[in-house]
Amino acid sequence: MSTEKDREQAVRRIAHLRDELERHNHLYYVEAAPEISDQAFDRMMKELEELERQWPELASPNSPTQRVGGDITKQFVTVAHRFPMLSLSNSYGQDEVAEFVRRVEKEVGRTLYAMELKYDGVAISLTYKEGELARGVTRGDGEKGEDITANVRTVRSIPLKLRGDYLRDFEVRGEILFMRAQFEKLNAQREAEGEERYANPRNTAAGTLKQQDPKAVAKRGLDNFIYTLAADRPPTRSHYENILKCREWGFRTPDPKRRFIERTDSLEGILDFIAHWDKHRHALEMDIDGVVIKVDNLDIQAELGLTAKSPRWAIAYKFQAEQALTRLNDVQFNVGRTGAVTPVALLEPVLLAGTTVKRASVHNADQIAKLDLHFGDLVQVEKGGEIIPKITGVDLKQRPPGAKPVMYPENCPECGTPLVRDEGEAQHYCPNEHACPPQITRRIEHFVSRRAMDIGGLGGETVEELFRAGLVHNVADLYDLTREQLLGLGKGWGEKSAQQVIDGIAASKAIPFEQVLFALGIRHVGETVAKKIARGVTDIDRLMAMTPLELVAVDEVGGVIAESIADFFAVEGNRRIVERLRAAGLRFAIDPAQQRPVGDKLKGLSFVVSGVFEGFSRDSIKEAIEGNGGKVSGSISKKTSFVVAGADMGPAKRAKADELGVKVIGEDELRRMIEA
Ligand code: IVH
Repeated sequence: MSTEKDREQAVRRIAHLRDELERHNHLYYVEAAPEISDQAFDRMMKELEELERQWPELASPNSPTQRVGGDITKQFVTVAHRFPMLSLSNSYGQDEVAEFVRRVEKEVGRTLYAMELKYDGVAISLTYKEGELARGVTRGDGEKGEDITANVRTVRSIPLKLRGDYLRDFEVRGEILFMRAQFEKLNAQREAEGEERYANPRNTAAGTLKQQDPKAVAKRGLDNFIYTLAADRPPTRSHYENILKCREWGFRTPDPKRRFIERTDSLEGILDFIAHWDKHRHALEMDIDGVVIKVDNLDIQAELGLTAKSPRWAIAYKFQAEQALTRLNDVQFNVGRTGAVTPVALLEPVLLAGTTVKRASVHNADQIAKLDLHFGDLVQVEKGGEIIPKITGVDLKQRPPGAKPVMYPENCPECGTPLVRDEGEAQHYCPNEHACPPQITRRIEHFVSRRAMDIGGLGGETVEELFRAGLVHNVADLYDLTREQLLGLGKGWGEKSAQQVIDGIAASKAIPFEQVLFALGIRHVGETVAKKIARGVTDIDRLMAMTPLELVAVDEVGGVIAESIADFFAVEGNRRIVERLRAAGLRFAIDPAQQRPVGDKLKGLSFVVSGVFEGFSRDSIKEAIEGNGGKVSGSISKKTSFVVAGADMGPAKRAKADELGVKVIGEDELRRMIEA
């Protein structure tokens, strides 16, 4: 029975944790100056989650626990903007900027301009009421947009609660985008999972925000910059000052110290800002496609007014995308692990935005047709947001006489099987997954890679050699390899290298189930998903017997993943391989130690684990405690038996332990308790 007093205590603790978590979130994601370790943050989050579970009536949509994403949004609701979301008129040259300044000065005299970066993302309008995020709406047609609040909440640099002297009811506008590093990380992950890379950060951000599953959005790691305050009574009459105010309230706004926003009252000042960013934009951590110049004073803005759809008090200066002309020598059609065929243009090397470019992506068949590409064409390559440059045009006048058109192959360039293209998909696939050489060898390469079965001595070239020699056709064949077979390959193989491979293969039998599952290379089953499935389902027999509907009940598994797993095990050949791997001794169930306690030495004891440890990771310390019958909790209370302290345990924790008379022990002492 919980008393009124318990409840009061929970209310206070929840409010405290929410404030602290939001503050640390801001320090981490906006200020990039964290004060506590990730683990300490996670612990607080766990405690809050636990309390909110205990007291469901105290839940709140703006609790930091909601950052990981709430329920599926069935359909986005269209809502009208209180203040219309305007667009900017674009300019591409200094003349047009000079013309803008002349026009403004003619009407209102010399005045201050605020200059900003033009972020290349997706526009968003955020409404705050009484200091809390109330709604996030896309730009839409400028008059009305879609309510994507649930997705917006997952963007860590968007405050859910404000601080300081904020207005009671107002909107901010800004751009949601991917930082380049995060975008790269996302693509590396996609590649590891056998997926196509995303083409550029902007489109990926737009696609992400349209997803109906906020949990999926949360995992992508979007970011934002705020560039407009829209309110009936803004705090000052200066746009620049208002942006600084927004910063005080907790928003991520352009940093004046880095010249992300600056003021000037002259054309020279504006041109200097443009020149600076034209030169330095490539070194930024995110994509920009220009700069924006705005009259700073709100009253003067009103005086200048609007045209049909853009304000007369602002102008965007767009940078030219960096381009170069070069010769198209050839087009390669690469076949990946999942059979996806991607055309890659081989170019005469050319210097572009500071790097030598030899290859460019052409995306797909439609793109080849649209460009009407011919071998030997002089093509225009452009480096936009994407890392790999793309071909954007062809100089038809310079086409060599008799040049042959680039044809998209109808058959797989590697195995000759007719390619297929699924309805609505841009990509062609080779469906011959069990006999198409590069698909086979890339699957094997994935299987032996470090994060999968970690078989040392087996790189890409060796895998191909084994395949060509007819020794290995699938991952199960690896476990039938003999030292003699390897030595029989001749050139390059000696006693030592052969033994190394054989040992590596033998050692891989001890790799835990979760990694084996990842190694199988099931589409969409990356490392994290494999881990969750291994823990949740515990063995392969149960997994193979599950329907997609049962699978989605597993943590981290959504519809697409569930279908993909079911499809994989529906293939007889895949089941046979699993059986052979099992017979070879691979692990297809999680370690019993992870399932149930191995001992009960710690039965009845409750532990709090804090700090960094030498011999163990924090997770393995927790596993060791739980494996021996002990309990692990997030915060110290009267019920805590021991605090296991690592190197950097905070002083507050120690004081709390002292106050409650809880004994603090080190990892050695814990070990002794278990081994006693
Ligand atoms: S101000 C009238 N400032 O560019 C004010 N917009 O074509 C309109 N954008 O939809 C917006 N960075 O998505 C403004 N510093 C910035 C911007 C910016 C990017 C985008 C925004 C808008 C589009 C205008």
